[in-house]
Amino acid sequence: MERIAVLTSGGDAPGMNAGLLAAVKVATARGIEVLGIERGYDGAIDGHLRALSRRAGGGLVPVGELERAGGRGGTLLGSSRCPRFFEPAGRATAAGRLRDAGVEGLLVLGGNGSLTGAHLLATETGFPVVGIPASIDNDLGCTSDAIGVDSALNTIIEACDRISDTARSHHRAFVVEVMGRDSGYLAMVSAVATAADAALLPEQAMTEAEVVDEVERLVRAGASPERDKPRILIIKAEGVPVPATRLVREVNERVRDIDVDVRATVLGHIVRGGNPTAHDRLLAGRFAFAAVGALLEGTTDVMVAWRPAVDGGTATPDSSVRLFSLAEVLAETARLLDGTSPVTQARLQRMKAAQGVLGL
Ligand code: F6P
Repeated sequence: MERIAVLTSGGDAPGMNAGLLAAVKVATARGIEVLGIERGYDGAIDGHLRALSRRAGGGLVPVGELERAGGRGGTLLGSSRCPRFFEPAGRATAAGRLRDAGVEGLLVLGGNGSLTGAHLLATETGFPVVGIPASIDNDLGCTSDAIGVDSALNTIIEACDRISDTARSHHRAFVVEVMGRDSGYLAMVSAVATAADAALLPEQAMTEAEVVDEVERLVRAGASPERDKPRILIIKAEGVPVPATRLVREVNERVRDIDVDVRATVLGHIVRGGNPTAHDRLLAGRFAFAAVGALLEGTTDVMVAWRPAVDGGTATPDSSVRLFSLAEVLAETARLLDGTSPVTQARLQRMKAAQGVLGL
C-alpha cells in the first residue's frame, strides 16, 4: 500500500484530531502517504481530498496544520451527516473517487451511523475500510470506550460542579440534561462521578408519567426536613423521551407545598466541544496505531475496540486493542441500544444497586 485516506464522520468528538495526527504519523513512518477527506462521506462522494502528509527532506512528514490541531477539539477535516451515503449509488461513487485518487485503504473515525456506512462501503464495493470508534455517546458495541467519551464526561462533571455551586447557595434542585442520543452512558457515569441523586436513562424505559413521579419522589426525599439536602442533582439523558423543561414544569407544579425550586439545564453541544483529555488523546493514538497496522496487513471491514466487554475479536500488537468485524460491532450496538445486550443489563443492574446510595 502506498496511499490511504482518512475521514471523520457524524458528530465531532474531542480527540478526533489526535486520531488523525496519530494515523498520519504511523502511516508516514511506514512510508505511506495519507489523504484527508473533507466533511466526511460528503467529501468522499464529491472527491474533496487533501494531503495530510507531504514530501520533505527525502521522506514524508505530517503537515504542520495537523500537528497544531492534534490537541484541539472538533475535527480539522470537518464532518457531516451524509444522506447520500445511505444510498448504494453514493457509496459506489465514493469508492470510485477514492480509487481514481490512488487511495488503497480508508480509515473512518465516527460513531454508529458512520461505521454502518463503512461496513456497507466495504461489503458492497470491496474497498478496504477500518473503523475507529469516535463518538461521545459511547453507544458502539464491542468496545468499552470511544474517542471523545472521557472528554465529554469531564465537561459534564465541570458543568455540574458549577451548577452545584448555585444549587447549594439557593437550596435548589437541578435536572441537568446531557447528550448521548439513545444511550444513557454519559448520564449514568456522570451521575456517579458527580455524586448526583439519580440518573434518568433511556435504557430504564420509563414512561413520561413514571419519570415525573420519580423526579417528584427524589425532590421530596432530598428536601424533606430529615434530609434537607443543600443540593439536589438529577442527571437526565437526552434519550429519555420527556423534555427537561416540561419535566421540571410538571414537577414544580406538584411540589408547590414544599419550599423547593426545581430548575432545568440542558448542556447540549457544550458536552461535545473542548480540547481532548489525556485519556482521549492516548486512546486516539493507540486506536490509530492498531487501525493503520490492520489496514496495511490487508484487514478490512473491522473496527478497533478498546478492552472489550465481550468475548471474541482478534488480537493486535496492543494488548488493550482488539479487532472486531463491523458486522459484529453493529449487531452488538443494536443490542446495546434495545437493552438485550448483557452489557446493558449489567449497567442497569449496577445503576439499580447504586440507586439507594446515590440519593443519600
Ligand atoms: O452523536 C453525538 C451527538 O452529539 C448526540 O449525543 C446527539 O444526540 C447528536 O449528536 C446531536 O447531533 P447534531 O449536532 O447533528 O444535532
